[in-house]
Amino acid sequence: MTQRETIIAGNWKMHGDPALASALCHAAAAVAPAPGVQVVVCPPAPLLAQVCGELAGSHVKVGGQDCHAEAQGAFTGDISAPMLKAVGCTHVIVGHSERRTLHGETSADVRKKAQAALKAGLTPIICIGETLAQREAGKEREIVGEQLRESLPDGYFILAYEPVWAIGSGRTPTEGDIRAMHDYITGIVKARPVLYGGSVNAANAASILAVPGVSGVLVGGASLKADEFGRIIAAAR
Ligand code: PGA
Repeated sequence: MTQRETIIAGNWKMHGDPALASALCHAAAAVAPAPGVQVVVCPPAPLLAQVCGELAGSHVKVGGQDCHAEAQGAFTGDISAPMLKAVGCTHVIVGHSERRTLHGETSADVRKKAQAALKAGLTPIICIGETLAQREAGKEREIVGEQLRESLPDGYFILAYEPVWAIGSGRTPTEGDIRAMHDYITGIVKARPVLYGGSVNAANAASILAVPGVSGVLVGGASLKADEFGRIIAAAR
């Protein structure tokens, strides 16, 4: 059996400039991860080539934050999976709730993007998760189950369970709630890493990573602080 991998992924979202990117690369590469820990940083598109260059030869992998379902074409402002691959990316986030909400992406769109990522040789990190209203209505499993049925490609992928209400809010579900949802997801999707995302920071990373069924974390805000992201990497065992 291969050793279970723990994945620490940083989603910079629409933040950063070349100087911050350098500092974050330096900090992430400087922390020696425990065996079986994989670190991935996902900078905004204009910083990808720089970040791939700075991290070349290090243990840190680089991912895009989104990709188009097509490989090329008249899609102004979009980025294709083969383009990400060509600059040195190994991963790409698809279906983040900010894409689903602000860009109207459906699970069917997400599936196409994930399929395009696989075709280009990238590992898609597919985000799923319920809103607060859905959780308060007791529908979180129904919503996540539907997202799983409709968003997943044929092939290897990483899932990230990110309750929408936990993203950027400083609120996290209880460890019991994280465990319950991860059990539910791993009951449906076998042999795929399932990360947790939403207000992960250096103070809560170790306890979240210790929840059975959690294969890693997808970190937003805290991944923009060199020190803090380093401490999150160090928390992974
Ligand atoms: P956050 O974002 O860590 O800032 O809550 C997580 C995410 O959206 O991936």
